[in-house]
Amino acid sequence: MNVIVVNGYEEMSDRAFAIMKDIVVKNPAAVLGLATGSTPIGLYRRMVADHAAAGTSYRAVRTVNLDEYAGLAPDHEQSYAYFMRTNLFDGIDILPENTHIENGIAEDAAAECARYNELLETLRQDIQVLGIGSNGHIAFNEPGTPFDMTTHVVDLTESTIRDNARLFAREEDVPRRAFTMGPKNIMNAARILILANGANKARAVYGLVRGEVTPSLPASILQHHPDCTLICDRAAAALLSDEKGVS
Ligand code: GLP
Repeated sequence: MNVIVVNGYEEMSDRAFAIMKDIVVKNPAAVLGLATGSTPIGLYRRMVADHAAAGTSYRAVRTVNLDEYAGLAPDHEQSYAYFMRTNLFDGIDILPENTHIENGIAEDAAAECARYNELLETLRQDIQVLGIGSNGHIAFNEPGTPFDMTTHVVDLTESTIRDNARLFAREEDVPRRAFTMGPKNIMNAARILILANGANKARAVYGLVRGEVTPSLPASILQHHPDCTLICDRAAAALLSDEKGVS
């Protein structure tokens, strides 16, 4: 794993943006695997600003998102579909039909998971952007998820519900279930870019980089990915005491 430690959130977002822009410029029809959460917002802001200033085009880009809350329609303000539109898609020239995310209100959850897995077979991510949960989850793959799982519906853990409650009016409004790509779909990406900032991510980042590869810390599977870059700030990197391999 290539580990890049930076001073803070803005520098993390700058470095992530440089990587994303390079991919889109070199391959205007790239498949971008995207993530939600507060972590990638700075990256998305830079993509929007650069599209306006430099005209980088996303007209042929396709996107696949990691996850979606079960029970939330795409126009619900807390849905990840809405998040992606407001934080990125509305600010660039991507075609809505080229953006993909699980349907949170699918009536047949198993059929929706199968549909998404088939889609991911045809749209292999050139790069997959990831954040990390404070418990080491990636997408909504909570501790204990077998590494060979594909898209599925999960029961969110109490810690994830608590972490995400800040984005809802009340903790009881946070959906208890979600659709998520599985670790196998994530590992299938040609390249992984995982971002982490803040002291509350330090234990998860330690497990990601130095811990045992175990489903107890889902992000640890990324140690087996051939092209994975972690960009994290000093607070998130605080437990990586040995600087070997860290730039
Ligand atoms: C949610 C998302 C993850 C994200 C995580 C961390 O659980 N499903 O994809 O990485 O939150 O969120 P944040 O970036 O806000 O810390």
